[in-house]
Amino acid sequence: MAARGPTAAVPSLAASTPWQALRKHHAALHGTTLRELFKRDAKRGERLTAEGAGLYLDYSKNLVTDETLGLLLKLARARGVHKHAEAMFRGEPINVTEKRAVLHVALRAPKGTRIEVDGKDVVPGVHDVLDRMAAFSDKVRNGEWKGHSGKRIRNVISVGIGGSDLGPVMAYEALRDYSRRDMTFRFVSNVDPTDFVEAVRDLDAQETLFVICSKTFTTLETLTNAHAARDWCLQQLGGDEAAVARHFVAVSTNAEEVRKFGIDTDNMFGFWDWVGGRYSMDSAIGLSTMLAVGPEHFHGMLAGFHAMDMHFRHAPAEKNLPMLMALLSIWYNDFFGAQTVAVLPYAQYLKRFPAYLQQLTMESNGKHVTLQGTHVDYPTGPIYWGEPGTNGQHSFYQLIHQGTRLIPCDFIGFCQPLNPLHDQHDLLMANVFAQSEALAFGKTLQQVRAEGTPAWLAPHRVCEGNRPSNTILAQRLTPFALGTLVALYEHSVFVQGTIWDIDSFDQWGVELGKQLAKKVIPQLQDAHPRLDHDGSTNALIRRYRQWRDDKGGATPS
Ligand code: F6P
Repeated sequence: MAARGPTAAVPSLAASTPWQALRKHHAALHGTTLRELFKRDAKRGERLTAEGAGLYLDYSKNLVTDETLGLLLKLARARGVHKHAEAMFRGEPINVTEKRAVLHVALRAPKGTRIEVDGKDVVPGVHDVLDRMAAFSDKVRNGEWKGHSGKRIRNVISVGIGGSDLGPVMAYEALRDYSRRDMTFRFVSNVDPTDFVEAVRDLDAQETLFVICSKTFTTLETLTNAHAARDWCLQQLGGDEAAVARHFVAVSTNAEEVRKFGIDTDNMFGFWDWVGGRYSMDSAIGLSTMLAVGPEHFHGMLAGFHAMDMHFRHAPAEKNLPMLMALLSIWYNDFFGAQTVAVLPYAQYLKRFPAYLQQLTMESNGKHVTLQGTHVDYPTGPIYWGEPGTNGQHSFYQLIHQGTRLIPCDFIGFCQPLNPLHDQHDLLMANVFAQSEALAFGKTLQQVRAEGTPAWLAPHRVCEGNRPSNTILAQRLTPFALGTLVALYEHSVFVQGTIWDIDSFDQWGVELGKQLAKKVIPQLQDAHPRLDHDGSTNALIRRYRQWRDDKGGATPS
């Protein structure tokens, strides 16, 4: 297959032989149940598993046979997934619409690895920044770095949005057990002033450090919140501009804008345009993570990412975790018409993991044209969503068990608790195993009747089963394990995008909303704006202005 790009001819996916073979196979499989598949093969639960980088993947409870897997792997080969992955690892500009390399894998490459962009090895630069981050984190954590009035820093507020926020928040929550408990860490992202006001209301500016995270340093939300933070700080610190240097650091690729904001570029931690926002939590964007857990644990997390990178790069396709998860996702998305994937971590510390994955997966693969710019004639990126278990069981699982939609699930669990309390961890994990079993095998009418259920009630109690799921187990939620998990999904997204022949690394769709918001802002603020939108938008703006300015109060308090 030719190298990918806007001009390289890639055979149409839907018309390709492997795709057509999968279509036929899907039709032939119709009606096959997981009960039958497990009955036919006593070893299925052990056979359809794979391990890598400390993760165990059980994918046996999927609606697949050996033939399905063979055909899916053939598809991956035909679409040149391995070749394309090598192009990524070599630093080729595979983000074709932005003409950029895609090198988040370089962020966790050990010292001494050589990865070139335009003939220059980027790995030494990565380690320089990591070393600067470590030196700074140590200073803040041991109290050497003082605020303007000489007090040590006890509060860290990371300000950013999208990829400059979701990764740091998720990682902070995930690694809370490893974090400094005598420091406060908060995250401000929303341009809703409530987010900032609530984050600082009980804090002393003298002890507060702001980490302003923005790849471009032009994002409306982040810059607005950064200015609010600056005002809040200066107001509390007597208005002395010199205070900014002690209370603000920046993480960005844009030194010019950082300087304009008033942050000394000595206090700036850089990264590169070959790091996509949603792939940046292990770059300097993770500074708040490092401040919370310390450089050693941060490096532990990087080692986990790297271990999964190596697994993805070198493990055979049929034992390759990201490859298998991606192919299964395509199987349901494109052949069963499943529109979503539920991610269900049975770990309270992973409560922000589904939100993090939403950007990673949906900003990456929410695309409607191929690399050549032609409209795809197959569904691309599914909707990812989820909540930690067991909470979700008491809310939306009913629909997964008995609703009319097929929702493939990823269960994630850990074998050792971080907070052992009586037998509670066993209770938690019993629910993982019970849920995936119930989804796969359900409860037949016969079983329901045998329990003495009256005939009229029996149909309501039947669970058809055949609801597919993956179960991912790790031994313990460590920084290393977190790195492997995130990289698992990163590479799964990559494989899916490669097969769909889309650019998983741009995000042009987000731009339109941003542009329109810029146009609307003055229309909310000018005395007599000319409203030139559609009828609905014009009416909404008028109603907003009317209710905003009506101090009589339309809403009862
Ligand atoms: O939401 C669009 C987006 O461009 C994301 O891709 C990015 O992570 C986010 O905005 C924040 O951008 P920046 O880091 O430049 O402020």
